[in-house]
Amino acid sequence: MRFPAEPFRIKVVEPIKNTTQEERERLIREAGYNIFSIPAETIYIDLLTDSGTSAMSDNQWAGLMLGDESYAGSRNYYHFEQTVREIFGFKNIIPTHQGRVAENLLFSNILKEGDVVPNNIHFDTTRANVEYHKAQAVDCVIDEGLDPENPHLFKGNMDLNKLEAVIKKYGADRIPIIMLTITNNSGGGQPVSMENIRQVSELAHRYGIRFFFDACRFAENCYFIKEREEGYADKSILEIAKEMFGYADGCTMSAKKDGLVNIGGFVAVNDDEWAQRITNMLILIEGFKTYGGLAGRDLEAIARGLKEVLDENYLRFRINQTRYLGEMLADQGIPIVKPIGGHAVYLDARRFLPHIPPEQFPGQAIVVELYKRAGIRAVEIGSLMMAKKDPETGKMIPPSLELVRLAIPRRVYTNMHMQYVAEAITEIYHEREKLKGFEIEYEAEFLRHFTAKLKPVD
Ligand code: F0G
Repeated sequence: MRFPAEPFRIKVVEPIKNTTQEERERLIREAGYNIFSIPAETIYIDLLTDSGTSAMSDNQWAGLMLGDESYAGSRNYYHFEQTVREIFGFKNIIPTHQGRVAENLLFSNILKEGDVVPNNIHFDTTRANVEYHKAQAVDCVIDEGLDPENPHLFKGNMDLNKLEAVIKKYGADRIPIIMLTITNNSGGGQPVSMENIRQVSELAHRYGIRFFFDACRFAENCYFIKEREEGYADKSILEIAKEMFGYADGCTMSAKKDGLVNIGGFVAVNDDEWAQRITNMLILIEGFKTYGGLAGRDLEAIARGLKEVLDENYLRFRINQTRYLGEMLADQGIPIVKPIGGHAVYLDARRFLPHIPPEQFPGQAIVVELYKRAGIRAVEIGSLMMAKKDPETGKMIPPSLELVRLAIPRRVYTNMHMQYVAEAITEIYHEREKLKGFEIEYEAEFLRHFTAKLKPVD
């Protein structure tokens, strides 16, 4: 079966409220055309993110009842630790309430001003956490990864020449770690191959630099390796994960993705001294080392979720549901990033709306239209989210891609929902000439897309 049906039965349902187009037009106008400021209840299908939006299984819900809320030494922490160690293998496992805290704790303890962190492509919170410490976040993804039409099967791969050039330019002593984001969210949810992982690890260690994963979507990356890389077809997802993490010295993880939970994360490091420093800071800002800002029951849900996410039937459905949506769009000639990524379909807004320049946020024009017309929430990953400013002229430097991400929550929507989304986008595509760009009325200094206010360009 090319597109397997949902490998679960639905036991509990959450009704969705209906809104009219008129209501949505008013709401988005009042929100300054910012989709983050819309009440979620007025959204029919929410594809803003796959983060923290998963449906938990009956087994996870049952686990919540076994929450041990002891301040120290909760049994759920031990279950969590044991599960993470079994899959990831790292020595010290430090729970946090979500991924960016794991990043903050790691970077606060290893970065100093002027340091450099290479990554295939930094996710926005990762970049912001590096830059907050007055260090530089450098992206070294292969060129194919920046070309939305290139069919390369591992577009998340690190370019080893770019990486080595960065090491030579800044010197290994200014690079405390090299990171790889799996799958590469900001580059279209594209996987990294095991071969590339091995080579990056080898290169990092040759220069005495530690190698870390941003592991949010590790299981989806493992599934792609199984599907696409020679020698892995007969290996289990767990075996692939173990090999992968075996090349690294640690990771940050937002369990809100492949942990199949609504909150949680961790940082894992082999180095005891780093772990000690991180733990001391954890106690200052998150909580004691056996709960890290989470309830005991949350840790139980993560432990169970991390086991469920390795199930191949689940992953086959998951990856193919994303592919199902992507292929319906591609069949209509709608420009999307190819190959279709793991957690999301990305519309190529530059090609979708060639009449709207990056300065007028073509991706945002699609996002606004999708909400108005169909109650669908997507997110712009283009100039609004990622542009830089020329320090001299103050002019906007657009990123290389203008994308709209349709992120699919795990186990939440059916393939029928995906059909609805495809139809709505197809309708908009047929009337794309009518769409107009936007300009900024207000923006914050960091992560402006969350709070910016916009208005349509006349
Ligand atoms: N790294 C990556 C690759 C991510 O995609 C995210 C979150 C984080 C780190 C931070 O984790 O949200 O738990 O603090 N991505 C979400 C998204 C927000 O929508 O892609 P967090």
